[in-house]
Parts: sequence; structure tokens; C-alpha cells
Amino acid sequence: MQYTKRTHTCGELRPAHIGQTVTLTGWVDTRRDLGGVIFIDLRDRYGITQVVFNPQHHQSAHEKAKDLRSEYVIAVTGTVEHRPAGTDNAKIATGQIDVRVQDLVILNKAETPPFAIEDGIDTNEDLRLKYRYLDLRRPEMQTKLLFRHKMYLITRKYFDEQQFVEVETPVLMKSTPEGARDFLVPSRINPGKFYALPQSPQTYKQILMVAGFDRYFQVVKCFRDEDLRADRQPEFTQIDVEMSFVDEPDVQNVVEGLTQRFFKELKGIDVPVPFPRLTYKEAMEGYGSDKPDLRFGLKFADFSPLVKEGGFKVFAENVKKGGVVAGFAVPGGASFTRNQMDNLVDFTKSLGVGGLAYIKLTEKGIESAIEKFLGADVCRQICDLAGAKTGDTVLIVSDTWSKTYTTLGTLRLEMARRLNLIDENAWNLLWVVDFPMFEWSEEEKRYVAMHHPFTAPKPEDVPMLDTDPSKARARAYDLVLNGNEIAGGSIRIHSSELQSKVFGLLGIGADEAKAKFGFMLDAFKFGAPPHGGIAFGFDRIAMLLTGSKSIRDVIAFPKTSSGYSLMDDNPSAVDTKQLDELHIRLK
Ligand code: AMO
Repeated sequence: MQYTKRTHTCGELRPAHIGQTVTLTGWVDTRRDLGGVIFIDLRDRYGITQVVFNPQHHQSAHEKAKDLRSEYVIAVTGTVEHRPAGTDNAKIATGQIDVRVQDLVILNKAETPPFAIEDGIDTNEDLRLKYRYLDLRRPEMQTKLLFRHKMYLITRKYFDEQQFVEVETPVLMKSTPEGARDFLVPSRINPGKFYALPQSPQTYKQILMVAGFDRYFQVVKCFRDEDLRADRQPEFTQIDVEMSFVDEPDVQNVVEGLTQRFFKELKGIDVPVPFPRLTYKEAMEGYGSDKPDLRFGLKFADFSPLVKEGGFKVFAENVKKGGVVAGFAVPGGASFTRNQMDNLVDFTKSLGVGGLAYIKLTEKGIESAIEKFLGADVCRQICDLAGAKTGDTVLIVSDTWSKTYTTLGTLRLEMARRLNLIDENAWNLLWVVDFPMFEWSEEEKRYVAMHHPFTAPKPEDVPMLDTDPSKARARAYDLVLNGNEIAGGSIRIHSSELQSKVFGLLGIGADEAKAKFGFMLDAFKFGAPPHGGIAFGFDRIAMLLTGSKSIRDVIAFPKTSSGYSLMDDNPSAVDTKQLDELHIRLK
């Protein structure tokens, strides 16, 4: 098909172009017929330009324009002119001009799209994902992908300036579980053997340190077969970083520098460094989360010492068993109705604890069902400790340390949402540090690594690996933005012996360690430098900085929450022949 190539984009023409003959190409956004004249808003990713077909000027172009429908692809040639007085459109950058068309070429027709190609549609997301190419035509989606593009540029420039080297690591790797389930790829030429897709390039980047690369980074796809949520995808992107001869602050400084760049260059915001640090214990005991959202208060207080001898058996016995009684004051909570409180109690029970106690502090004084057990004095002390004022209610949970605080953490977020306490324009960044090395898994009846098996213990806690591993703290750190974990990393073990010991504590015996991680243990015997690193969740940062509700909005072709790609019907069944070649028989 013959047509003139575009001279300008649809976002480019201004009054300075008036009088010029131009050619534009793009999609028909909208069409209006007024008094025999046809107006088309022509769209491409740069913007929108109004083009005008007037039968009095160019009869044949006008005749052809009668066929135009939404999303037809066209090329138009015409003259740039001032819009008639009073018809300027201040909402678009080209709003002072239009193009009087002499020549129209229809490059392609389009069926009626299943939803409008415009911002702010409330179309069901599945439909948007099925017709993702149409969804991605919408300006807000294009803006988000351009935002991502800028993030890549800023990242690569920043790390290059700091002497980091980008190295690609394999996508077909050895299955070395990091916490989530691996995606497996059968090997055709090695029957019965499998590659795994990387959950992260963790082992490779550590080996690169042994190889002397000193400062590595990579913008890299990672794959995890886990249950999906709004901030999780089975394949996602990390900015992966590893450095040699470093301690925690060296890695954290590099991360803070990049975060500052993102905020400055993408949002025009100066964020102060260093970011505040909370230990894992402070985060849990203060806010009930290892990724606390500190855009609002509702900080917890520990009431255990006040109630352990008191007359309320449930509390006293729990504390004696080693449990915790804690809670927080809800501003204005004393005005909650009986119904609202019952609802809150049910909500709390649904989180897996026995119940929720509360003390209202009203003009008349203490109002609480547990006053008769605890006495007014203790109730008052609880209110004081929680910082409650007249008109507030103190919510109280009593259970094990971990259940009490995780429940309060969920309750805290729920109350903040219900009471509208979250400042949506605030940006809250902090480091959470000093995580425990291990978590006890009831399911597996063994310790699992809280971060991953390569994380170093704090030097002063190494002796605890022999006495009480559950108390040993790790040299791990997470970066948190508005209650979301956006990066996580650690200083690593670089001694073969210590690594073997940690594997042992994780229930990975010598033979299994050799089979799974022998290459790493071997590498560490050949002069492994002290090293550490971190990985950013690229999509999560893009999601938060663009104000998107879901990670799917900043990924061109995401999967649904059931891991499905609706556009290309994937995953899908494969031929028996393909399976035969891979030595696989389906159950
Ligand atoms: P971690 O497992 O903490 O660390 O991952 C780093 C960051 O990646 C993001 N992230 C995800 N984003 C989207 N979808 C997912 N399914 C998903 N899982 C994780 C999070 C997280 O903070 N190898 C280590 C890093 C290191 O120790 O250097 C690692 O992968 O934002």
C-alpha cells in the first residue's frame, strides 16, 4: 500500500507549524460529524491531533473519511491551520491547531473494540488482559510502560557510574530452592533431568564475586511458582546487586542512592538519606509487620507486665506461658457502636486468635467488659501505656508473641483504612534490619531460612548456632516503601565451613548439600571474598511510584492471579510428541 511516511507525530504540531504541509499516521480515536464536516481525533503514543475533512476543500478525502471508524489505522496529509476562534482545546498539547486534510489513506480497518481506548475505564480486568494490545493503546498504560523504560535507563546509568558491571546469568539453571517453588524445564537430551528457572540469580552472583567481579548488577527476570497476589507475579523483574569487600552500610548506601535517583528523576521529589532503620523486633513489636507502613501511627504497647499478676486469667496465664498481651489505641474509637465493635471482634477472630478485648475511654471513664477482672486501675494504666485519650478505644490481643503481633499488624492496617489515616501523598521509606536467621516451620518440623540459606549470621550471634539457633540474628536487610517490601538482601556467608553448618541447621545434610550446592561450597574453597548484596523488586517500585493498585498494571503482559495469560491462552496443553521427546508421561 502506497502512503507517505509521517512527517510529525500526533503530539508534535504547534502554532509554529501553521501553514506547513504535514503527514500524520495513527489510530482513529474519535469521530464527529458537524455540519457536513468530519472531525477525527488521530492518536499515536505521542498524543492526539484533530484532523478535519471538509467537502468544500477536499471532496475526495471527505468522501473516503465517511468510512472511518474507531481504531482504523490511517495516514493523512494536509495543512496545519489555526483552529477557529473559541474552539481551542486546552486539554491537549496540540489543542491550538488542526490539520485540514487533502489526502487520506486507510492503512487498516478495525473491528469495534470491546472497550473504549481511553483512560479511567472500569472494564473488567480479564477483558483488558485478553485484549491486552488494545489496553496498552490507552494513554495511561503507555505512560506506565514509558515510566518503566525510564527506570531501566536510570538504573543502568547509576550502576555504570558506580563501576558496577552488568552480567547476564543463565535462565536454565540448577534447581536450588530459595524459598518458593521452582518452575522446572525438562531436558530432552538428558532424560529424567530438569533445569529450573531462576527464583533469582543468587548463586550466580555470589560465584561472580568469587570470580573477582567485585561489583555486579543485572536487570533480570526471576520466576517463582507461588500463590499470586496484587504485588506478586510468577515472573517478575529484579534489579539484582552484589558487591565484594562490603558491610551492610556499603550496600545500603548504594541502594539509597538509586532510590533517591528514582524519586528525583521520576517524581521530582528529594528523599532524605539515610533512611530510618528499625530492627525486626522493633518493627514486629511496634507495628506487627516486618514491612511496617509508617505513614500513620497506631503504635503498639506491651501490656504483659501490667496483666501478668492481674485478675484476668486469660491474660495472666498467657503471659506466664511466655505469650504476650499487647494492643494499641484507636483514635475516636470510643464512639464505635456495639455493632461495629462486634464486627471488629469477628474480624480479629477470623485472623486465628481467640478474641479481641477492648477498653473504651469515654467522658464517663473506663468502659470495658474486662474491667471487672482487671480493675479500673489496671485498665487506666493500659490506656496510659497505649497513649489513649478520652474518646479513644484500646484494642487488646493476647496470644503467642508471633500471633499477637501479626494479628495486631493486620488490625492496625484495617483500622487505618477504615479511619482514613493513610496519607496517600506521603512516601515512607525505611530499612528493617536484624532479622532472625531462621524461622521454625511447623509444617516441615524444621528451621527454614528467613531470608535465604546464604545469609550470614551476625558475628556475635555465631555461637548461638550451636546453642539456640532460633535466637541468632542475620545480617539481612529489607527496604520498605509505604508498607511494601521493595528490596531485600544480606551480607553472605563466604566460608565453606559456616555455609555447611547453616545447611545442616536447615536440615540439608552433607550429601544433599553436596548434590545441590556442591559447586558453591567448592567455589568458596578457592578464595571467596567477603561479599553481600540485595535485589530490588522492579515491578513493585514501578507499581508504587506510578500509583498503580496492582503490579499487573506496570507489566506489559502479566498473568492473572491463577497464573494464566488470557491473551494467548497460556499455559496450554502440548502434543504427545513433544512430551515423548521430553520423556514425560502425564498422570
Ligand atoms: P527476595 O526474595 O527478597 O530476595 O526478592 C527481592 C525483591 O523482589 C521482589 N519480589 C517480587 N516481586 C514480584 N513478584 C514476586 N513474586 C516477587 N518476589 C519477590 C520483592 C523483593 O523485595 N536473591 C535475593 C536477594 C539478595 O539476597 O540479594 C532475593 O531474591 O520486592
